[in-house]
Amino acid sequence: MACLFRRAIAEQVSRIVGLPSETVAQSIRAVPVHRKHESPDFQLFVNSLLDDIHADANFTVQEKAQKLASKLNCDTVISEIGADRGSVTFKVHRDLLIKTVLHKITQDGPRFGLNTDLLSRIPKGKTIVEFSSPNIAKKFHVGHLRSTIIGNYIANLKEAIGNEVIRINYLGDWGLQFGLLGTGFSKFGSEKELRDNPLEHLFNVYVKINEAAEQDENLRSSAMEFLKRLEGGEAQAVSLWTHFRELSIQEYAKIYKRLGIHFEEYSGESFYREKSQHVLQMLRNRGVLKEMENGTGVVDLSEGLSTYKTVVRSDGTSLYITRDVAAAIDRIEKYDFDEMIYVTDKSQQTHFQHLFKILQILGEKHSIRCHHVPFGRVQGMKTRKGDVIFLEDVLDEARTRMLQNMAATSTSKHLEDPARTAEKIGAAALIVQDFKGPLMSDYHFDWDRALQSFGDTGVFLQYTHARLHSLQGLWETKDLTDFNISCLQEPSVISTLQHLLRYDEVILQCLDDYQPRYLVNYLMGLGHLANVAHRALPVKGSTSEVAQARLLFFNNVQMVLANTMKLLGITPVTNM
Ligand code: ARG
Repeated sequence: MACLFRRAIAEQVSRIVGLPSETVAQSIRAVPVHRKHESPDFQLFVNSLLDDIHADANFTVQEKAQKLASKLNCDTVISEIGADRGSVTFKVHRDLLIKTVLHKITQDGPRFGLNTDLLSRIPKGKTIVEFSSPNIAKKFHVGHLRSTIIGNYIANLKEAIGNEVIRINYLGDWGLQFGLLGTGFSKFGSEKELRDNPLEHLFNVYVKINEAAEQDENLRSSAMEFLKRLEGGEAQAVSLWTHFRELSIQEYAKIYKRLGIHFEEYSGESFYREKSQHVLQMLRNRGVLKEMENGTGVVDLSEGLSTYKTVVRSDGTSLYITRDVAAAIDRIEKYDFDEMIYVTDKSQQTHFQHLFKILQILGEKHSIRCHHVPFGRVQGMKTRKGDVIFLEDVLDEARTRMLQNMAATSTSKHLEDPARTAEKIGAAALIVQDFKGPLMSDYHFDWDRALQSFGDTGVFLQYTHARLHSLQGLWETKDLTDFNISCLQEPSVISTLQHLLRYDEVILQCLDDYQPRYLVNYLMGLGHLANVAHRALPVKGSTSEVAQARLLFFNNVQMVLANTMKLLGITPVTNM
């Protein structure tokens, strides 16, 4: 779509400036829609394009733009050429704009805007996204929630542009908490409760045994004892641990499903405990492991990071960092990935710097393909039960609050499954609230603000989507190929289509630093434009020719809206 236009413009320009048309095309941008007046469709910044070869100090950029503009001609694609603040501006023929964009959406469906020239230049391959990664028997805190939704969005984005994506959940499934759990379960545990509600039950047992162990030396040593048995691979201890782990994973998977999230692999720290020994050996072989008198082992990272990193405890047990090195090496061998992205809160930034540095010291070429995407803290996310302990609580809270709002304002009675609808809207509200700002910023979470139906919220997006979807019932016969272009000349249609020309540019921006806010802003823009058009262009009461054209337009906008919401991890509702 935009490709056709960019190519046509680039060809003309390339003849005049003597640069390959692909190079020129890269400097052409769709113009963001202006609220008040009609803007041109594309612009070409002469500065970025011409500076090297046409460096001519006697001309201002505006003069250069005017000069270039004066040499270009309108043709079958371009209908107007101008110069504005250092860029040459282009308008394409309205009929061609309408026809091309709408045809492209119909033809490409969910791939719309994702297979363009601009995006095809990006190298594709195998991407691992590791995210969520909660710790069994401990709180699922807001950091895990953020990791879950951000990681899912990054995975979706990568997949959408044609990568093979492997989603990994790296569970905190090893460590002292399992010693305590092993002891605690025989004291406070119940097999029935474990089966009914594993996450909550293990958490409760863990809290109780922690309290009890503080007072009781015997319990502490029995916990250490259990951990030793576990570390030593003793069958009974391992079987109990496996039982805890398996039931927890089943439960996690169920809850992730409520968010439409899945993982290709549930791995965990436990898996790399033994492999850590191998890492230590590798470090030793490279001569970079310093074994200290007290028995700990450290790696010198002073070149570059000016620090020493402990990789093995004095009792020989592995550490978080060592398990991460082992996990990374394992993934290199298993997947030979092209890139690996870890999503955690920013408190782990140094940890990942150390990890990547150690991989580099070990000579792992893949180290440069590993990235950490950090994010800030959230304050104030509480549920009626108090602090967030389980992911389920957050989802329940969002659903309950949304159900109440719906009961107060709308006719939710006509809905087949109001709770399910409320859940999808509530999740959208959470996601949008979280994705609106820069990822690194801390922010204060506010349920009321997130759940407002106006303004830039997930609820607003869902409303807009449902509103457009409700037009489906008005088709006489649904035909997405036949429509009269002259029925779609209104400004509200044109601005919406202009906005769609920018789709791939926004995706490109997201791929650059993974900030979801570009896509959220873009989607809000689309939602507002769609609402303006919906008010301005009634379908009911129009002649059937006009109705057909408008329905097709709204149908296509709804499709793009839905697909983009899905990229963000939102499940669009069709009724609310
Ligand atoms: N389980 C860890 C935590 O809750 C997060 C794991 C992050 N991933 C990693 N490869 N270290 O803090």
